[in-house]
Amino acid sequence: MGILLPKNRCNIGYQTGVSLVMTTTVTQQPPIVIAHRGASGYRPEHTLAAYKLAIEMGANFIEPDLVSTKDGILIARHENEMSQTTDVVNHPEFAHRRTTKIIDGEVKNGWFTEDFTLGEIKTLRAKERIPQIRPQNAVYDGKFDIPTFQEIIDLVKGKTIGIYPETKHPSYFQSIGLPLEEPLLEVLHGNGYRGDKAPIFIQSFEVNNLKQLSQKTDLPLVQLLNDTGKPYDVNFSYQDLATVAGLRDIAEYALAIGVNKNLVVPRDRNNKLLSPTSLINDAHGVNLLVHAWTFRNEDFFLPLDFQGNPQGEYELFFGLGIDGVFSDFPDIGLRTIEV
Ligand code: G3P
Ligand code: CA
Repeated sequence: MGILLPKNRCNIGYQTGVSLVMTTTVTQQPPIVIAHRGASGYRPEHTLAAYKLAIEMGANFIEPDLVSTKDGILIARHENEMSQTTDVVNHPEFAHRRTTKIIDGEVKNGWFTEDFTLGEIKTLRAKERIPQIRPQNAVYDGKFDIPTFQEIIDLVKGKTIGIYPETKHPSYFQSIGLPLEEPLLEVLHGNGYRGDKAPIFIQSFEVNNLKQLSQKTDLPLVQLLNDTGKPYDVNFSYQDLATVAGLRDIAEYALAIGVNKNLVVPRDRNNKLLSPTSLINDAHGVNLLVHAWTFRNEDFFLPLDFQGNPQGEYELFFGLGIDGVFSDFPDIGLRTIEV
């Protein structure tokens, strides 16, 4: 699978709840659907079961967030504190490992991946993060273990599907002598991922580890942008990065930006959509792809404009010329593209 670059685009118009929006561009190829933490709307996130289901659904990429174990093995978890998505609290043999740390400036209490060997982590079982919203997923609590990055790669071998790994807390892991980047490249190169056409995007909310990676690999890189705050490792904001000047800087080391949806279509304080920003066109103007996160079915996450109609949200973003969507429900994104 090659990497999709923004090419010539045609006019598309669509009607949102607020206004008719015209965009001047649309991708040459269909947008990609990235299974966010696997098909995490249907299975507990970051389990092989969630990734397998996403592959069966036809997702173009599966997305593992990566952290390190004590013995330097990359595993798929959204954060290094494990109590929200594993049964570690039910393991009395690990009770003494509970501790408090400051991770990226925030106080966190619990059990941390870097204090456990892979062998110990393999005794834990995954659980649903938001059982109150996804009770259908909680029935799988206790059934699946925590996968390594290598196990996820093994899952996609021989299949037409890309991987979209994210380095989580890279400065923190560097500071404790467990940098993520070296094992990441070692695993990827060892599995044949090389060059800018490889079916992979490597993403980070931080800036410097991406810049350093760009010196070490040709694999495509993605700068993540949130709608508030700043990357942990620099003194400028995500808003600064989303300016034309900021995007131009990103284009020096990355192929794409992965953005909070609100940076493309902001919401007002009543959760209603406002007019789209120029971010997609600005990014395309400096040859950056734009992938947006996170598309979810539940009304809890949807803007007022699309309550009960998650497909409408995809249609909106596809109409604006987005190049890819991170989705907990990849089947819905794919179905929208097919229509
Ligand atoms: O990596 C894109 C998107 O997944 C960022 O959000 O917090 O789910 O990793 P998060
Ligand atoms: Ca992620």
